[in-house]
Amino acid sequence: METETLLKELEPTVEANLNRHLEVAQEWMPHEYVPWAEGRNFALLDGEPWSLEQSTLSPIARTALEVNLLTEDNLPSYHREVERAFGRESAWGEWVNRWTAEEGRHAFCIRDYLLVTRGVDPDELERARMQTMEAGYDSGEKPLLNVCAYVSFQELATRVSHRNTGKITEDPVAERLLTRVAKDENLHMIFYRNIVDAALQLLPGPTMRAITDEVVNFQMPGSVIPGFARKAVQMAKAGIYDLRIHHDDIVMPLLRQWRIFELEGLDEEGEKARDELAQAIAALDREATRFVTQRDEAAAKIAARRG
Ligand SMILES: [Fe+2]
Ligand SMILES: [Fe+2]
Repeated sequence: METETLLKELEPTVEANLNRHLEVAQEWMPHEYVPWAEGRNFALLDGEPWSLEQSTLSPIARTALEVNLLTEDNLPSYHREVERAFGRESAWGEWVNRWTAEEGRHAFCIRDYLLVTRGVDPDELERARMQTMEAGYDSGEKPLLNVCAYVSFQELATRVSHRNTGKITEDPVAERLLTRVAKDENLHMIFYRNIVDAALQLLPGPTMRAITDEVVNFQMPGSVIPGFARKAVQMAKAGIYDLRIHHDDIVMPLLRQWRIFELEGLDEEGEKARDELAQAIAALDREATRFVTQRDEAAAKIAARRG
């Protein structure tokens, strides 16, 4: 099916889900979540420059907050991607702008929190933001069905990452803020998930193929952040986002929701894609088990050494 036709066919679903989203999304004020009274000037305004001992966050909490913030910072690139795929017309275009407006507040409230509390090195953060945005995010002309499948997984992944980052800060203020951001991500996930559901009804084979390809090739949107690979490993070790979470809390819930393995009447292409998907998630599951076992063993060794 031509992309133009597909956009038209899915338009009623997009419109219904946009309306549903607008009804359930509660207005919230990012400034309410920032402890402004803790803020003070930096060097240029005759204040104190940042130094490490000012941060009350643990190193892993700093890393996770920075990764999550820089991921959100790249919004102009994500906007470009969804606008290219969904267009500016009809409910699709309305969703693109609404979604972008909601995403916009994520970066600035997390940044406000970090600057006011002196949680991370602000110079380093600004340089990393510049690098991240200059790298941009480019999915390489991903087709519509793939974009819809990818963003379903990605929104759920960022929801979980924000939630778990909030917990690891051990700061109730940060946790409240990130829990609020995670709620937005959850509603975004539901929107995209419902579009994929409709696409599965409309074009089961090609949609199955798109889902399989996006599971197999999944990468976090933040993969362009400087030092991402190293930081992602630290976050995995800390249990903020690891393969077990990716398999159990992101991939499987969506596949279950879409009734991927109960779906009947698939064409040959669809059946082939589903077989590949089954193999891919089995491999992911094995890898996740291996990762967790190694992590547990390493933790046991450290505990034994400490006596
Ligand atoms: Fe976000
Ligand atoms: Fe989102």
